[in-house]
Amino acid sequence: MRVLVTGGAGFIGSSIVRTLASGGHEPVVLDALLPSAHGPAGPGRSVDDPLPSGVRTIVGDVRDRDTVAGALAGVDAVCHQAAMVGLGKDFADAPEYVGCNDLGTAVLLAGMAAAGVRDLVLAGSMVVYGEGRYDCPRHGAVRPGPRAVADLDAGQFEPRCPACGAELVPGLVTEDAAGDPRNVYAATKLAQEHLAAAWTRATGGRAVALRYHNVYGPGMPRDTPYAGVASFFRSALARGEAPRVFEDGGQRRDFVHVRDVASANAVALAALREREPGTFDAYNTGSGTPHTIGEMARALAAAHGGPAPVVTGEYRLGDVRHVTADSRRLRDELGWKPETDFGEGMREFATALLRARADR
Ligand SMILES: NC(=O)c1ccc[n+]([C@@H]2O[C@H](COP(=O)([O-])OP(=O)(O)OC[C@H]3O[C@@H](n4cnc5c(N)ncnc54)[C@H](O)[C@@H]3O)[C@@H](O)[C@H]2O)c1
Ligand SMILES: [Zn+2]
Repeated sequence: MRVLVTGGAGFIGSSIVRTLASGGHEPVVLDALLPSAHGPAGPGRSVDDPLPSGVRTIVGDVRDRDTVAGALAGVDAVCHQAAMVGLGKDFADAPEYVGCNDLGTAVLLAGMAAAGVRDLVLAGSMVVYGEGRYDCPRHGAVRPGPRAVADLDAGQFEPRCPACGAELVPGLVTEDAAGDPRNVYAATKLAQEHLAAAWTRATGGRAVALRYHNVYGPGMPRDTPYAGVASFFRSALARGEAPRVFEDGGQRRDFVHVRDVASANAVALAALREREPGTFDAYNTGSGTPHTIGEMARALAAAHGGPAPVVTGEYRLGDVRHVTADSRRLRDELGWKPETDFGEGMREFATALLRARADR
């Protein structure tokens, strides 16, 4: 199968390209090599982690109709990973996020409709859920609102029951939970899903969104305002500094290895071919075993040989306290099985190369 991997020069996209190539498929890469992801001088993937030779790479933007039309020639399916990621520097980044992520998705989908390409795997995200799932001892399942600055300043990080103010017990979010994006990036990721669903209805296309949890592994970008927390910690350790853990370190996440995310994409591409036209489905994509940010920092620091993490009590307003997915559906319906467990993955990541940025 010839598969267009948008964002195929990125952290996750390049892992998907390798997985598809080794599975006998023909990946084609379309990537704009954004400076926010690759540095101003272009790509600098970690040296031990090149794309397989012979992979056709088109340097271009998914927002550009002609580029997209050219990239789609002879393609059987699209794996759409291109996006601006992370929280960004400040709100001034919003137009660029919306442009790359939502306008880009719309241009891609229109191009697919014109070219008769019907199968799409979309890189979704757990961020669409906002503050995961919580239960109040008295009120059952509740949805806490955004955390108040006064609470965060006072070190009160746990969201409280909107009805009675009691501390809540975090649970596992399932795919039917309502969308509740809490920052610009999250809003663009939810809009991508809505656009993909509208495209399936209008064109008879078939789409699966894989809502990735916190992805980590070799080739992760170094710490920029656009990178993930595992990369901040790993980069600090590489500089000989202690990882700085925000809040009290008790934030729960699910860390899923990039190779497992790549295999989820391969499984989803195969499954699409059995689906009815006009269907859209979302699957949580996590390891299935939640850990706290503090645990992750300690595991990385230990495997790296120190220094030990420090808990700073700082916070970022757009962050959610806990969000952990129930990824059973992806295992049960598509037969996906993550292979890398937390301890083993963090030991590898502690010394693996990050994606070099050409400006550093
Ligand atoms: N890393 C995570 O933990 C995580 C979690 C959930 C979802 N995701 C999603 O996974 C996908 C891949 O993320 P990543 O972590 O590999 O990030 P990344 O920055 O390493 O890769 C994204 C790639 O997309 C390219 N790109 C961005 N805008 C583009 C545009 N307009 N045209 C063409 N190319 C463009 C960038 O140059 C980059 O190479 C994204 O859609 C992201 O939202 C990532
Ligand atoms: Zn309550």
